[in-house]
Amino acid sequence: MASPQTQDWSLRSWREKDALQQPTYPDDAALDAALTHVSGLPPLVTSWEVENLKTELARAAQGEQFLLQGGECAESFADCRAETITSRLKILMQMSLVLTYGLDTRVVRVGRFAGQYAKPRSSDTETRDGTTLPSYRGDIINGTEFTEAARRPDPQRMVEAYASSSLTLNLVRALAEGGFADLRHPEYWDLDFMDHSPLAEEYHAIVDAIGDTLDFLKTVTGEELDSVQTVTFYTSHEALLLPYEEALSRTVPHKEGVYNLGTHLPWVGKRTNQPEKAHIEYARGIENPVGLKVGPDMTPSRLKTLVRTLDPEDEPGKLTLISRLGADAIGDKLPALVRAVQDLGHSVLWIADPMHGNTEKTEDGTKTRRFDKILGELEQAFDVHAAEGSHLGGVHFELTGENVTECIGGARGLTVDDLENAYKSRVDPRLNYEQSLEMAFSIVRKYRQLHR
Ligand code: PEP
Ligand code: CO
Repeated sequence: MASPQTQDWSLRSWREKDALQQPTYPDDAALDAALTHVSGLPPLVTSWEVENLKTELARAAQGEQFLLQGGECAESFADCRAETITSRLKILMQMSLVLTYGLDTRVVRVGRFAGQYAKPRSSDTETRDGTTLPSYRGDIINGTEFTEAARRPDPQRMVEAYASSSLTLNLVRALAEGGFADLRHPEYWDLDFMDHSPLAEEYHAIVDAIGDTLDFLKTVTGEELDSVQTVTFYTSHEALLLPYEEALSRTVPHKEGVYNLGTHLPWVGKRTNQPEKAHIEYARGIENPVGLKVGPDMTPSRLKTLVRTLDPEDEPGKLTLISRLGADAIGDKLPALVRAVQDLGHSVLWIADPMHGNTEKTEDGTKTRRFDKILGELEQAFDVHAAEGSHLGGVHFELTGENVTECIGGARGLTVDDLENAYKSRVDPRLNYEQSLEMAFSIVRKYRQLHR
């Protein structure tokens, strides 16, 4: 029997609503052909994994675990390479180790990868030197090059996005199941340039302490600790390009409902989270846990409507609210939003994305974010939840394991002038390796202050 949630929902019901941020494909037949192709391809994830993640998120909502969600702002086909994928996993592993140790709790790792190919844009078009072309909307839709051919939405790119997601996931799964994730061999997660970092010593002290604990347990029990030998990485991306999400949403034998099997945790972005529009219509019917970005334009009453719509039965682990309010607004906005959800009596998982509300442009127009603002928003998120009798159950970052210079500040004191040295992001500025690790230590410091 269909749940009340899905009685008036179908996989295509979003098509009757207004869908924002969608490309206009020039050739309907080519679009249909690509969608038919993707619909016939095997799923990227399984319904069991999706349900397992829901259970983990339910625990995080109860304060028994902590969610670390992080990765690229936008993946690119060109970066579907071993080095990029492994360095991203390494920094997520290092951060999660610091958090596990420092927070004394299990950490659920969810990557912004294996499908993060579609980007919302503030304008449909971009004008350069008098020429106007469609905006770049992510590799799944068009190319970055400023030419008519590259910017034309090409449905075949959905097939390529599926393939790149699958190649990425293949490596992630193989590494997670193999020796890479063995806690007794943390040297596998070291990054080449790491020893030059002022944080390396603090990090290695934690690694040594964990190694000692494992040796001690082995001595006491006489057994290898199998359970620590593998780690899980779940995947997530913004469910933006609805025809693609629909093509990867499937029913499965012996289970009710429709699962998005293109990712474990799809989220609805800030620009497409209107209760009456297509993205929420799509998201409200699927069985996956769902993320919802909560921006400064969110009102308590709209948030209540969204929570009721996306999670009518208050299902444990179903809804993750990702606040991205900005360091200057969070203190004003978050308390009323937290109270609104408490009013409903729903147990959602609140996490903080301190990146997207803190983007600024330098004088020459480069997009950047300041480490202090990012950390400031995060610390305030911890404080607001504590003050409201709620709690912050996780964090969401745009980061890379590479040594880029996109965000200002951090222990190494990157300045505006440093940005040009290694600015690689094509969309939003990411924390580099060192800034990410520092962020993990800072979270621990804040958490311990609160729980002293
Ligand atoms: C993003 O997460 O890359 C993004 C665009 O975020 P938001 O929807 O919160 O602006
Ligand atoms: Co972004």
